[in-house]
Amino acid sequence: MTGADPRDRGGPQQPLLIVDGLKKYFPLRNALGTVSAHVQAVDGIGFSIAKGETLGVVGESGCGKSTTARLLMQLIEPDAGSFVLDGDPVGRGGVTVRELRRQVQMVFQDSYASLNPRHTAAQEIAFGLRVIGKDTATAEAEARQTLRMVGLDPDLYAGRYPHEMSGGQRQRVNIARGIALNPRLLILDEAVSALDKSVQAQVLNLLDDLKQRLNLTYLFISHDLNVVHYVSDRVLVMYLGKIVEVGPVDRIWREAAHPYTRALFSSRLSMNPALRVAAPPLSGDPPNPVRPPSGCRFRTRCTLAEDVCAASEPALIPSPLDAAHAVACHIARAGSGHSLAGALANAA
Ligand SMILES: Nc1ncnc2c1ncn2[C@@H]1O[C@H](COP(=O)(O)OP(=O)(O)O)[C@@H](O)[C@H]1O
Ligand SMILES: [Mg+2]
Repeated sequence: MTGADPRDRGGPQQPLLIVDGLKKYFPLRNALGTVSAHVQAVDGIGFSIAKGETLGVVGESGCGKSTTARLLMQLIEPDAGSFVLDGDPVGRGGVTVRELRRQVQMVFQDSYASLNPRHTAAQEIAFGLRVIGKDTATAEAEARQTLRMVGLDPDLYAGRYPHEMSGGQRQRVNIARGIALNPRLLILDEAVSALDKSVQAQVLNLLDDLKQRLNLTYLFISHDLNVVHYVSDRVLVMYLGKIVEVGPVDRIWREAAHPYTRALFSSRLSMNPALRVAAPPLSGDPPNPVRPPSGCRFRTRCTLAEDVCAASEPALIPSPLDAAHAVACHIARAGSGHSLAGALANAA
């Protein structure tokens, strides 16, 4: 089916989605109801998602992963940022936000909370189809067909309510609800995180199968690094509302360049002596996103931080060794003023 998708206007090299300067600050109100400060949840991030790829997103809790997902879904309005969908700018005379929203669907972690307890599996899926204008009979027929696609026999499961299904089955219904609307991009926000390992493996296999059959592209958000390694083609690492590193999954796993990525992975890497890196594990919690540190936001937890790290914010720039691998760290850029910058450039 790949390549035959009539919606593929820009060709295989044109990213499905390009995001630039995406920003979301949540206002915090004091007791009097006036805005006293802002949570800098997502602060000027840019990235692209290639057609057919799985882009993994990792980072500690609170770093802005779900906010990014909700911004892409157009569930919340960005304070700033532009979207390009398959080569066409979104808004301002280009593709409409509504069109973008139709092409993106999302599956959340909590399969129970995401489903209406008074809807059967078939009703839940049919509901979304009716919203987009399909008549009841068509919506029901398509709902049954979609249940079969996610491995649930409609004769057994169409009439079941959420409480009559297991966590894995409910998550299959959530996936069915998403794919029934024929999206191009499916955002999976901790979608398998609550499942037992064996069920998780089955759902990951299902997702892989659906991706091929339906020509899908995935944005896969998870705090589980092993799962992200298993499913992703590329990985994007977030810290306190910023992207600190992005690149092909094997490169990030073998040669993570950002001290944050290395710290995040250090406990897991130490399992394999051949891959052991000299990075201290992460200690403490991320700083308050209402008042993030100046310069590099990771500097307050970084053992390699120097004056330049507080003075200026490192840009996310491609590695001279691999243009697909970008890092936002003064150490990774020769001439940045960091004492290790030259050393690393020479080693390269
Ligand atoms: N609706 C909201 N109002 C205020 N703050 C929010 C809201 N949603 C998220 N945040 C804050 O934005 C930051 C990023 O949250 P989130 O995107 O959920 O992170 P993650 O998914 O990586 O755990 C956190 O500090 C969180 O508390
Ligand atoms: Mg989240």
